[in-house]
Amino acid sequence: MRDWKFFMHRRLRLHWSATAQATMHPMLMTAVKAARRAGNVINRGARDLDMLTVTTKGPKDFVSEVDRAAETAIVDTIHATYPNHAILAEEGTAHGVNADAEHLWIIDPLDGTTNFLHGFPQYCVSIALQHKGQITQGVVYDPVRNDLFTATRGRGAFLNDRRIRVSRRQHLKECLIGTGFPFRDGSFLETYLDMMRTMIKETAGLRRPGAAALDLAYVAAGYYDGFWEVGLNPWDMAAGSLLIVEAGGLVGDLEGESGYLFGGQLIAANPRIFAQMVKLLSPYSHALKGKATPVEE
Ligand code: IPD
Ligand code: CA
Ligand code: CA
Repeated sequence: MRDWKFFMHRRLRLHWSATAQATMHPMLMTAVKAARRAGNVINRGARDLDMLTVTTKGPKDFVSEVDRAAETAIVDTIHATYPNHAILAEEGTAHGVNADAEHLWIIDPLDGTTNFLHGFPQYCVSIALQHKGQITQGVVYDPVRNDLFTATRGRGAFLNDRRIRVSRRQHLKECLIGTGFPFRDGSFLETYLDMMRTMIKETAGLRRPGAAALDLAYVAAGYYDGFWEVGLNPWDMAAGSLLIVEAGGLVGDLEGESGYLFGGQLIAANPRIFAQMVKLLSPYSHALKGKATPVEE
């Protein structure tokens, strides 16, 4: 028979969930609505992948009509409520983007396009709001599992209705670490392979599922203990970085510094593991100078 502790715990959990739901920030609510609409577009597209029109943006860089339709759904949803906000989105929406923009939405309508096109079920929608230079709202939505990761600055990170925290592991040797391979830009492949060799030796295991925003959500949820990648765009990192900070983790460039969003490089982990990763990976940063910085601010 279940004891009183079980029922107390369940009541507290329900109360917490209801509180989290009831107090969702209005701007986060808009982001969630937009992410779910994009998720519907993606799920519909996934039913018949052979029918999709796919074009190439660059070497190994594909875009489908689903990426574009998902971006339109997100931009329309945000602009219906916030017509004056600036938008920077992967598939070309660059509305009012300048250094003075007070509110800037940073969007990847479909992160993990290569996976999506192959029917490999690991991709997501990523939407973040930057306010006066600081990410204040973040949503990563996995339409395959219906997993909704959300965060508002100062209010914690959630997976659906549950509060999430980064892992508590203290030693890198015991850690599961996510990463992304440089599959488009070959200019830093050798440096990356050196980093990978180091990390394989020093960790319990590496994973490369192929959707960076979802990888970051997994660090926030404690599935991974840490993550690093080089050559990322701001729309890959913006929402996930807030999730991690709100879940008690740290995010920085290879030297552990804060200017990562437009710099291409990222380390993210729980605080103890972050320090250990920076120590191992920062020596490679000089070899990456001038490389793998995809977009200019
Ligand atoms: C890519 C994915 C991948 C990462 C690449 C990204 P896309 O995004 O996040 O995991 O390794 O750097 O460009 O092109 O599928 O949106
Ligand atoms: Ca992406
Ligand atoms: Ca994308």
